[in-house]
Amino acid sequence: MTIWEAMEERHTVRHFTDEAVDEEALSALSARIDALNVQFGLDMSLHVDEELQLWPGMTLFYSSGVNNFIALAGPNGSEGAEHIGYCGADLLLLAQQLGVNTWWIGGTYNMKKASEGTKGELYGVIAFGYGKEEGKSHKSKDAARVSRYEGTAPSWFEKGVEAALLAPTAMDKQAFMITGRGDEVRISYKAGAFSEVDCGIIKYFFEQGAGKENFRFVNGNK
Ligand SMILES: Cc1cc2nc3c(=O)[nH]c(=O)nc-3n(C[C@H](O)[C@H](O)[C@H](O)COP(=O)(O)O)c2cc1C
Repeated sequence: MTIWEAMEERHTVRHFTDEAVDEEALSALSARIDALNVQFGLDMSLHVDEELQLWPGMTLFYSSGVNNFIALAGPNGSEGAEHIGYCGADLLLLAQQLGVNTWWIGGTYNMKKASEGTKGELYGVIAFGYGKEEGKSHKSKDAARVSRYEGTAPSWFEKGVEAALLAPTAMDKQAFMITGRGDEVRISYKAGAFSEVDCGIIKYFFEQGAGKENFRFVNGNK
């Protein structure tokens, strides 16, 4: 499965079967987590066959079978949050390529328990496993509402925006604006809960669509 197919086929899944996740998929996820932790100075960890204690009410009809998760911990501050978004996006798409479904959860679980043994701030978790269904496409804004390019937009920019619109965002807000000029791209984001994490996710997806070699990011909100 190409990364583009993974972006198109990934949707949030909240109901998982009891089937154990394939050992090979687990080692691939574990190796990627280790590599990202080293590269970005994060403290993400893999939790297999360990119940994620969701807030009461969430387990009634909303979700089931959440017994595997990745704890998304890293240094406090906006850079840490953005890196978590960027690396979490990488893990979501790797999981999809391995045939594993995912659900990014910001804060509606027992954070104290999930953060046991982790360093820094716990920005969220990615629940994973084999979905009872594949999920469905989220409602999406039009590219024209979330992007602007000075002059005629090159195709790499349009592809990047298309990819960014496939990305998950907290409460499906898609509250970002992508502006381009020459080979410079700026992602700005309306401040709110998880906005810096969302920004990291958008950067990752944009990069997959646009191709890293075609542009460079310049500071967005800062
Ligand atoms: C940072 C972040 C936090 C999220 N938190 C929650 C959450 O607490 N509960 C939940 O049910 N979904 C949560 N989601 C999932 C989003 O609601 C979902 O990604 C969005 O609606 C888009 O749907 P999609 O993932 O199928 O594209 C979160 C997603 C992100 C990126």
